[in-house]
Amino acid sequence: MTTQQIQVPDIGADEAEVIEWLVQVGDRIEIDDSLLVLESDKASMEVPSTLAGKVETLLVSIGDAVSEGVPIVVIRVDSAAEAVLPETGDSDGDIETAADQRDDQVGHEEQDSVVNEPSPKTAETAHQTLLVPDIGTDDGVEVIEISVSVGDQVSEGDTLIVLESDKASMEIPSEFSGEITALMVTVGDTLCQGDVIGELVAQAAHEAPVSSSVAAVSTDTSSSTPPKPAAAMPAAAPAESMAKKAPAVAPGTAIVSSQESAIANSIYAGPAVRKLAREFSIPLDQVQGSGPRSRILKEDLQAFVQHKLRSPQAAVTTGSGIPAVPAVDFSAFGSVRTEELSKIGKVTATNMQRSWLNVPHVTQFDDADITDLEAFRGALKEEATRRGTKLTPLPFLLKACAIALRENPKFNASLAPDGQSIIFKEYIHIGFAVDTPAGLLVPVIRDVDTKGLWELSEEVLSLAAAARDKKLKPAQMQGACFTISSLGALGGKGFTPIVNAPEVGILGVAKASIQPVWNGSEFLPRNLLPLSLSYDHRVINGADGGRFMNQVVALLSDIRRFTL
Ligand code: COA
Repeated sequence: MTTQQIQVPDIGADEAEVIEWLVQVGDRIEIDDSLLVLESDKASMEVPSTLAGKVETLLVSIGDAVSEGVPIVVIRVDSAAEAVLPETGDSDGDIETAADQRDDQVGHEEQDSVVNEPSPKTAETAHQTLLVPDIGTDDGVEVIEISVSVGDQVSEGDTLIVLESDKASMEIPSEFSGEITALMVTVGDTLCQGDVIGELVAQAAHEAPVSSSVAAVSTDTSSSTPPKPAAAMPAAAPAESMAKKAPAVAPGTAIVSSQESAIANSIYAGPAVRKLAREFSIPLDQVQGSGPRSRILKEDLQAFVQHKLRSPQAAVTTGSGIPAVPAVDFSAFGSVRTEELSKIGKVTATNMQRSWLNVPHVTQFDDADITDLEAFRGALKEEATRRGTKLTPLPFLLKACAIALRENPKFNASLAPDGQSIIFKEYIHIGFAVDTPAGLLVPVIRDVDTKGLWELSEEVLSLAAAARDKKLKPAQMQGACFTISSLGALGGKGFTPIVNAPEVGILGVAKASIQPVWNGSEFLPRNLLPLSLSYDHRVINGADGGRFMNQVVALLSDIRRFTL
């Protein structure tokens, strides 16, 4: 087993700073695992390992300035890897640099690539094909941005596209000045060295020093043959894989960078972190970086996601992309007091938001003439006292709704969770909202259609008392088909109640009052009860709603109909 050094590869800059170590002494690493992050004034890049083995020594520290060829780490290489290493004649423990081997390979590569070097640019208005240069890897690299459009005038060095792998982001500059006449790539394409980016008509191109690395080649100036599409273009040179050669971004190709965009966007993160953030749609501008100089690390993304999942807002939103209400520091405007919601308050908030967001609501309004009902109720007051109960309008409302639910079965139904069918209920259980000091509770009266007014009145009283005394059992709040929310004792002319999903309807009751009603020949004082019926418009249409409301109004206006 030998130890070998890994050196800083060609980083396309004279010097770069060590920003972050991604391995520690003792770690087992594979070829291509990222070792550390370097950052120059142009780029931020992860340097991959060229060897598999165990990290023996870290030779540089965070903050060190390093350049190409500087040893950065000593690796105790795997015996399997040793087997494939070329004979060095010095394999028994001496330190040998991986770069020595790379240099040989790079030498061959440079020879091979000579044929691909572009000719000096001398042509006036020559058609040029813009090719992907040596990007330091044989693997395809994704186009994340197209910086030019057809018709744009570009100058030599202007960015054409931005590529990003999980190791580096790089801007691909134009090798020529001129007008872009065609673009063959789109965002999301995967490109390799030699692939066609587009075409350009060069303008008065001058003699320019030939870049040995940028593979944009001059095409026949007279030819009008369009270039082959990117996928069909052979690679211009046998580029060494990133596994063997670090992210060699050759001179002439600007690596770009996270830092540059970071300056533009005030985001400081490396390419791997940016890629991960894109994959999970994490807004980097909302992530707090914990790395050196607030650099965003992968751990910061994890912490961000965990925080989002735990936040109460995540629990009550439906994931439908509804923007959150911004947090406001109210204490900036005056003194404040914060009180935690009661348990019931929190549950109600969640239920209301869920119903409001899921159910397309429609609310219909009408008045029931309860003049006769109130006269009847008044006549029963003594008897009610004798019975030890109290007869309010609520039992009449329960009875009327039960009859209307039987006659209008769509209101006594729920939409199946998959939204493909309606579940009709053969029973008629009705919930009624009770205002308690701890919050809103909705006890349920079962089989309302089978019960008389006295029985209903007693149940209302006992369930409302149990609710206020916090003695309701969970079973007493389950199974409702429909809900009545009566605010009549409190006042108000009307309101739009929220359906208690998966129920599909709710009746809101406001305060009855004496109103002049035209009977065809005169105005008469009548006791009108304002009703508002909200329903789930996925299950119930306006005509269904109208029929239900008409029936409730008719029943309350003439309670003899209860018996029909
Ligand atoms: N119009 C005019 N008066 C009304 C009325 C109405 N719609 N509804 C009730 N009243 C009267 C009653 O007749 C009673 O008067 P009375 O003693 O002279 O007969 C008085 O108001 C008080 O009635 P109340 O004790 O509230 O009984 P109730 O049966 O009408 O209501 C509850 C019982 C439990 C529903 C009720 O107390 C309650 O908590 N309502 C709040 C519901 C709520 O918060 N809904 C909002 C949900 S978002």
